[in-house]
Amino acid sequence: MLIDTHSHIYSEEFLHDRDEALQRAYSNGVKKIVLPNIDSGSIKHMLDLADAYPHLCYPLMGLHPTSVDEDYKDELQAVEYWLEKRKFYGIGEIGIDLYWDTKFVNEQKEAFRYQIQLAKKYNLPIVIHVRNSFDETLEIVAEEQDGSLRGIFHCFSGEETEAKKVIDLGFLLGIGGVLTFKNSSLDEVIKAVDIKNLVLETDTPYLAPVPKRGKRNESAYIVYVAQKIAEVYDVSVAKVAEITTSNARNLFGI
Ligand code: NI
Repeated sequence: MLIDTHSHIYSEEFLHDRDEALQRAYSNGVKKIVLPNIDSGSIKHMLDLADAYPHLCYPLMGLHPTSVDEDYKDELQAVEYWLEKRKFYGIGEIGIDLYWDTKFVNEQKEAFRYQIQLAKKYNLPIVIHVRNSFDETLEIVAEEQDGSLRGIFHCFSGEETEAKKVIDLGFLLGIGGVLTFKNSSLDEVIKAVDIKNLVLETDTPYLAPVPKRGKRNESAYIVYVAQKIAEVYDVSVAKVAEITTSNARNLFGI
């Protein structure tokens, strides 16, 4: 059994074959799929899917950093409204993204910190998006870490020193398709840390692993990531599945 800890399979890219894509995932051993939210525009799509597949799809609630703009306070109100209204399995995805736009960096930081506090209030794990912002993100997590904070640095693709800082703060590394890319040195990085710190993810529909690189990603393809991790640590795929699944189950309570 495998768990995809990060999949936007509720997105419009799957408008015509969502059920088939979920069936392919299930057939490949992916028995649980965690759905991170983006913003108020994605909530209905995500929850419709979670309600249709309650034993397969587990929704998170949060505001993505690239959706933080002048209206971010309204967006955070929507996040809080939904957290009061129904069960979610974590806060995500949240974080800082300075790749696309740095205009709202202060608002991004404020939204990130605010949502970390919501995670503490509801005792939920967080799923963190980091892009060109490792130091800024880590600083806030370190300041907010009171021993209760836990979660995933999603799509981790940093250096060995950064991986170790993430682990020292009590967080897991979310490993996806990037690990399989020819030009990636992520295999060397993860080799330097214990496999017990990893969870699997796809970031569907993005970042499809080799041999599907460049195509639309889907949760079924997580098997290629599990195979690559098995190669890196020279262990069986079953061992990778056992460790990463147990990590994901413990973190999200699923
Ligand atoms: Ni995502």
